[in-house]
Amino acid sequence: MPNPTRPRLLTGDTPTSTGLHLGHYVGSLENRLHFQDHYDCYFLIANVHAFTTLAERPADIRANTLGIIKDWLAVGLDPERSTFVLQSEVPAIAELTFFFAMLIPFNKVMRNPTLKTEIDTKGLGDSYPFGFPMYAVGQCADILAFRPELVPVGEDQEAHIEMCRDVAGKFNQLYCGVNNRTPPDEHTAHGGLFPIPKAKIGRVARLPGLDGVNKMSKSLGNAIFLTDDTKTVQKKLNKITVQPDATTNLVPQSHVLLQYCDAFLPEERAKEIRATYAAGTDVMHGHIKAELGNALNNLLEPMRQRRAKLEGPTGDATATAVIRQGLTKANALAEQTLDLAKQKLGTHFGPRNLTFP
Ligand code: TRP
Repeated sequence: MPNPTRPRLLTGDTPTSTGLHLGHYVGSLENRLHFQDHYDCYFLIANVHAFTTLAERPADIRANTLGIIKDWLAVGLDPERSTFVLQSEVPAIAELTFFFAMLIPFNKVMRNPTLKTEIDTKGLGDSYPFGFPMYAVGQCADILAFRPELVPVGEDQEAHIEMCRDVAGKFNQLYCGVNNRTPPDEHTAHGGLFPIPKAKIGRVARLPGLDGVNKMSKSLGNAIFLTDDTKTVQKKLNKITVQPDATTNLVPQSHVLLQYCDAFLPEERAKEIRATYAAGTDVMHGHIKAELGNALNNLLEPMRQRRAKLEGPTGDATATAVIRQGLTKANALAEQTLDLAKQKLGTHFGPRNLTFP
């Protein structure tokens, strides 16, 4: 059962692809597994946000949504201990988004570095819809609807969390009488509705993809997926090119293979490998890749087994049931936040009774 006496935490994924990869794992999923036993956790599927880039392919968004729920279950996120939240079915999020949009200067949204990077890497040019920058405001509502203390995310999301902190602070000052010199940690003690949430970056802030250049990402084709089978994992690792630097004749310490050793081998072993490369010893890259392959496959095997049981229509039914299970609790909390926010905003004219399954 979710534990209401624990501090709250919220984080989420956007269903823009069918499955999660190792970058998601070390950047966030691993953290979530740990936090499940220490926080009252809310895990959100940002399926409305997926329409920012996939509005013409709603069936894909639906399939991706079910796929991500299955990945969560396969990794070990547990709907009995944590609350899964489907964004589109929590109306309070959409309602809060509109009010929050008034608290952020338009130009500040447009200067948000995370949005800018996405426009570049996804090649959106200047043809993206109005709703694309809007999602950053929506993300503030995703978070604040649940009034969490902690938001575990990848490094790329930090700008969004910063914006969310600004919005929460501004709301508390404008509508709850919090002083503008009140430290962030003391807002609720001074009458603020929203705790100012903190970002928590994963063990590996940015996992490079197999190309060794970009962040691991499905759309760049440089990812190892949690569902990749044993052979595929090894094949992908084997394709990594390892070339010594032309002037030093050494494999640079920043090389992706070494970053993977740090991320997936025991710390001592990774250090040993780094030292061998630094000494310029003739290292057998193939052996290192095999060692990494083993480590990765050991990590992934239990997930693959759980994921395999969720294939097909019964898996879809399980994922759907899990979504419905989370919505009652998610909506109870989000509706309460909205009700309190409306009292502060002066838009409250008595309670409303929307009923949810
Ligand atoms: N934008 C996040 C991503 O693409 C997903 C997300 C949506 C999220 N709403 C959130 C993450 C709220 C944390 C909190 O990764």
